[in-house]
Amino acid sequence: MQTVMVNASSAYPVHIGGGLLERAGELVAGATKSRTCAVITDTTVEKLYAARVCRSLQDAGVTVRLHAFPAGEQSKNIAVYGGMLEFLAESGLTRSDFAVALGGGVAGDMAGFAAATYQRGIDYIQMPTTLLAASDSSVGGKTAIDLAAGKNLAGAFHQPKMVICDTDAFQTLPEEDFAGGMAETVKHALIADAGFYRFLMEEPVRERIGDVVRRNVEIKASVVGEDEFERGRRKILNFGHTLGHAIEKNSGFTVPHGHAVAMGMVLAARAAERMAYSPAGTLDAVLAACRRFRLPTQCPYTAPQLYAAAISDKKRDGGSIDVVVLEELGRARTVRLDLEGLRRFTEAAL
Ligand code: NAD
Ligand code: GLY
Repeated sequence: MQTVMVNASSAYPVHIGGGLLERAGELVAGATKSRTCAVITDTTVEKLYAARVCRSLQDAGVTVRLHAFPAGEQSKNIAVYGGMLEFLAESGLTRSDFAVALGGGVAGDMAGFAAATYQRGIDYIQMPTTLLAASDSSVGGKTAIDLAAGKNLAGAFHQPKMVICDTDAFQTLPEEDFAGGMAETVKHALIADAGFYRFLMEEPVRERIGDVVRRNVEIKASVVGEDEFERGRRKILNFGHTLGHAIEKNSGFTVPHGHAVAMGMVLAARAAERMAYSPAGTLDAVLAACRRFRLPTQCPYTAPQLYAAAISDKKRDGGSIDVVVLEELGRARTVRLDLEGLRRFTEAAL
C-alpha cells in the first residue's frame, strides 16, 4: 500500500494499493470514531463491490446502511441527489456519522455533495473504483451535481476524511472507462510533469497502475494544497475542461467525461498553438497521448455550438472566462478571455 497525504484545510491520507476494499473497515477505523455509516454507490458498483465493503465495515463494528442509484452521468441530477438526502435522513444518520462514496466520479461527486449538505455537513470517505475517480475526482474536495444549464453547476468544497483506492477494482472496468481515467492522467502530466508524460508514453501503464495513480494524486495534492478553493493555481486542473464540458453538454451528457476532456485538451492545444500561447509541437504531444490511450480527438460539434455551451460554464466570471493553455510540456497557465476572445478561441480550436 502506498499513501499520499493531501494537505488542504484538513489533512487526509489517500491509500493506494491492491485488496484495499477488503481492508476498508480496518482503514476507516483509523479515520473516524463513528460507528454508523451510509455507503452510497451506483447499481453497477453495488453488484461488484458493495458486499465486500459492507462486510469489512461491519467486521470492524460499523453499522452500515446501503443506498444505490442508477449508474451513469444521467443520474448526476437534483432528483437523485435529493433521494440520497432523504435516504440519509430515513436512516437516522446524525452529524457524527459518516458517508462512504463507493464508485466512480459520479458516485464520489454526488455522495460528497450529499455529505457536504446533509445536516450542514457530515464526514465522508471516498472509495474510488474507476481510474478517473482514483486519479482525480476522489481527491481535492470538489463535490457537485449537474443542472440542466450545465455540468457541476451546484456543488460545494468538502474534503473527505480519507481516500481508499483499491487498484484491483480496475480489473472489472470497461476499456472505455479505463481510457477516460487516462484522459485526466494525461492532463496532469501535460500541466505539471513532463517526466510523467514521458513515463506514460513509454511504460506499460496497466502494469504500473499503482504508480500511475500515486503520481496523479501527488500532482493533484500539490495543486490543491496551494489553492484549495480555486482562486488561482487550481484553475490549471481545468485544462481541456471549458470546451470538454461544452462537448458533454451538447451531447446531452452521453459523451463520457474523460472522453470529452480528451477532445477538449486537443481543442485547447490547437487553439493555443494557433493563437501563439503555446509553442509548436504542443498539439502533436496531446494528440499522441490521446491516440496511445485510444481517446477520441475529433470533436463532433461546431464552434457556435461549443461557444453557446461554454458561456454557461461556471468558470465564467461575468464577462470573462479563464482558459488553460500549455506554456510548454509540463507547465500550464490561465489566460483570461472576454466573450469575444472566447469566441475566437473556440473558432481557432476546430
Ligand atoms: P462514473 O462514476 O459514471 O463511472 C463510469 C462507469 O463505470 C459507471 O457506469 C460505473 O457504474 C462503472 N464502474 C465504476 N467502477 C467500476 C468498476 N470497478 N468496474 C466496472 N464498472 C465500474 O464516471 P467516472 O468516469 O468515474 O467519473 C466521471 C465524473 O467525475 C463526471 O461526473 C465528472 O464531472 C466527475 N469529475 C469530478 C472531478 C472532481 O474533482 N470532483 C474531477 C474529474 C471528474
Ligand atoms: N478536477 C478539477 C479540480 O479538482 O479542480
